[in-house]
Formats: sequence, structure tokens, C-alpha cells
Amino acid sequence: MLLAFGVRLLLYRLLFLICIILRSVGQGNAGITSTFIRSEWPSVDIPLDNEIFSIPKVHNAPQQVHITQGDYDGKAIIISWVTIDEPGNSKVQYGTSKQKYDFTADGTVKNYTFSTYKSGYIHHCLVDGLEYNTKYYYKVGVGDSSREFWFQTPPNIDPDASYTFGIIGDLGQTYNSLSTLEHYMQSGGQTVLYVGDLSYADRYEYNKIGIRWDAWGRFIERSTAYQPWIWSAGNHEIEYMPNVGEVLPFKSYLHRFATPNIASHSTSPLWYAVRRASAHIVVLSSYSPFVKYTLQWSWLQEELKRVDRRKTPWLIILLHVPIYSSNSVHYMEGESMRAVFERWFVCYRVDFVFAGHVHAYERSYRISNIHYNVSSGDRYPVPDESAPVYITVGDGGNQEGLAGRFWDPQPDYSAFREASYGHSTLEIRNRTHAFYHWNRNDDGKKAETDSVTFYNQYWTSNKRRRRLKKSHCKL
Ligand SMILES: [Fe+2]
Repeated sequence: MLLAFGVRLLLYRLLFLICIILRSVGQGNAGITSTFIRSEWPSVDIPLDNEIFSIPKVHNAPQQVHITQGDYDGKAIIISWVTIDEPGNSKVQYGTSKQKYDFTADGTVKNYTFSTYKSGYIHHCLVDGLEYNTKYYYKVGVGDSSREFWFQTPPNIDPDASYTFGIIGDLGQTYNSLSTLEHYMQSGGQTVLYVGDLSYADRYEYNKIGIRWDAWGRFIERSTAYQPWIWSAGNHEIEYMPNVGEVLPFKSYLHRFATPNIASHSTSPLWYAVRRASAHIVVLSSYSPFVKYTLQWSWLQEELKRVDRRKTPWLIILLHVPIYSSNSVHYMEGESMRAVFERWFVCYRVDFVFAGHVHAYERSYRISNIHYNVSSGDRYPVPDESAPVYITVGDGGNQEGLAGRFWDPQPDYSAFREASYGHSTLEIRNRTHAFYHWNRNDDGKKAETDSVTFYNQYWTSNKRRRRLKKSHCKL
């Protein structure tokens, strides 16, 4: 009896001790490494004869239709498409009522070769002077071969405009890619922020690369014909292949995907900025020169000065190679860009830096390493409320599969990480807060796995702004 009482007392004490330990872990800053593992479809591309790549049956019908923002402030759109049999024309007819097209815009057409591959006729048409917050219907192609779509313009630039962005990266064209795209399309996202590595066509023999680019254009059309995707380029867009005579970097990408770089005074379509609703979105190129005095560096220096948080409170950076990642794949590849740009990101109180490249999901705490220099001895990132949150969403589902090996133990800067496929959504509510979700592709349903309410880095309330730490801003 006495022995049983003693054992029970010991068990109670043990239970109490476990509770204390668990509580202390919960209150600390320890990040989460999700152990979730789902059975995934094999990381292989969907065969070309699958219906998701289906080619419009009618002679010379437009295909691979995609739209992107066409100006700085969201009153223009660039509509792009491909005709295969002949150039056709590059006109877009559009209007605010279905099948009643009051306006016409003229575009351009071009094609290119990639070794033995000859592209179709690639059309780009700028449609500008649009009204905000308006649904437009548009028609591309000629006569019987024409096709019709629609899009919704964003609200006018306003600090309290609510707007939902999707964030997708490293998509490719596998069954997992399809799952990601379908889940995103159910999310209510209004515009995609794309963080590089699009089709993975460069994984093919040189003479099949163009064919897989065409297939990818048809694959994404179900979303890209109806809402803008804001593009940034990754390493799979470089396609530098001197062995087959192809030495112009980003050749396929630049022919196929237009960006409004001129509107933000950028000299290259690979880096530019747009403003949309209450967000200022800056696109950087991880694979273009960015050190001091290069064109990209000089442009970013000026663009950050143009950011007006009283009009666009949310400052978002898109790039391909993560600045902070604790995955063993591609580890430290973003370090050179961190050394050049991190001080600006902190000084300008960037809200989010979204990246791809690493085929997994990871979110950081607000941390910075701007006091590090080769001799200072301050070697580690430290908590910094002025710093952005760094989010890696390279988990679109391409044929290279997942990057499943994270560094162990999880570094202090890492808040949540999981090697699964998925996409993110950022629901901006007003100038002060936004709801963020990472949505895992969970066997046919979208699972909100990492959900955080973020508070704006500039505004604390609709009247009060945060005070900047002057010490961070020696630019
Ligand atoms: Fe990449």
C-alpha cells in the first residue's frame, strides 16, 4: 500500500516535471521543424499527351495565354500569348461587358530559335488606361480561332486597400505542380508573386527544351490568363548552353515573359518594381550582377527611395535564392546578396522577402546580421524588429523533388520549416495587418499549416508610424 502510494507520488512528480519542461519550450523562441511526411506523387513530369497540356483544336488559336501588370500602379496589363501556325495578329479587343469589346490595343509579335527548336509566334500587348477595381473581358486571336478571357483590375493605390497575393515558386510541371496550382486557384488569391524557376524545361535535351516551355505555358494558362503573375527569374531560366550554341542567358524566359521594367526606370526586365493596392513589390534577380555600382544595385538604391509607405505600406521583395535558409540544399548561396542588400532591407523596414530555389518551406523570425563584418566577431544573426521576415516557398512541386534535409539543430533564426509541397497566401487587410498562410498540398486538400498575423513594419495604427532606428540606416 505504502509502496503503491510512493510510486504514484513519483509518477505525479515526473508528470509535473514534464509539464514544466513543455511549458518552457512553448514560451521560448524555439522554431518548429515539422515532421509531417506525406506520400507524394513521383517527381516526374506529366506526359505531354496529358489533357492538362492540351492544344486548342482550331487552326492558329492562341495558346499559353498569360497576363502580368503592365505599369507601375496597376492601371495597365500586358497580355501575352503564342500562335503556332502563323503570326496572325497581335491585337487585343477588350471591354467591361462580356462579348462587347469597345476597345482595341495593338501588340507586337516575335519568335526565336533555341538550337534546333523554332518557337511559335509570341505576342505581347500592353493594355493601358484601365479603370481600377473593374472586371475586363478580352479576346485574342482572329475570327474562329479567337479565344476569350477576363481579369479584374486591382483597387487604386491606397494604404488601406485589402488584397490577397499568392506566392508560388519552383513550380515545374509534375503531378505535384498540378496539385499546387489547383490548390492555389481555390485560395482566393488575386495575383501571384512568382519567385523564380518556372518550367524546368532546361532539364530536357536541348531540342526538347522549347517544347516543354510551350507545355508549361499551356499548363499555367488556367490561372495566368485570368490574373497577373508577377515574375522573377531563377537559375532554371538561365539556359546557358554553349555546347549547342546557346549563349544568351534567359533567352526563352525573356522572349516569353514580359515585365513592366521601364515603368520603374529599370534597364532590365529581370529587376523591376510594381505597386498594387497597398503593396510595393520589388523584384530582384539573383543571377544578374548586384554588387555595388552594378546596374541592379544602383536601380534598387533609387527604387527604395521611391517607396512611399503612406501610400503603399507593405514593402515586399521577391528574389530566387533565399537570404536565410537552414536547408542543407543550396546552403549559403544567398550569402553574397545578403552581404550587399541586407542593410537596406532593414533600414527600409521591408515587410517580407520571399524566395524560392530550395524545394521546401521555411519562415524566419525577424532577424538581421548587419553588424557582421569579416573582422568584427559578430558572427550570428540576432533578433531585430526592423528586419524583414524571410520566407522560402520553393516547394511548387517540380521534377527535382523535395529538399528534405534541414540543418540540425534548427538555427535560432528559423521559425518554421517543413519539406512538403505547397504555396503561400498573403491576405493584406489594411495598413496595419495581414494574414499569412503557408498551405501544404495535403493529399487532395489544402491544409493551412503555418499561419501568422503580421503587423506592418511602418504603421502601428492608421495614425501612428513606427520610429526608425537611425543606427540601421547608414546607407
Ligand atoms: Fe533554383
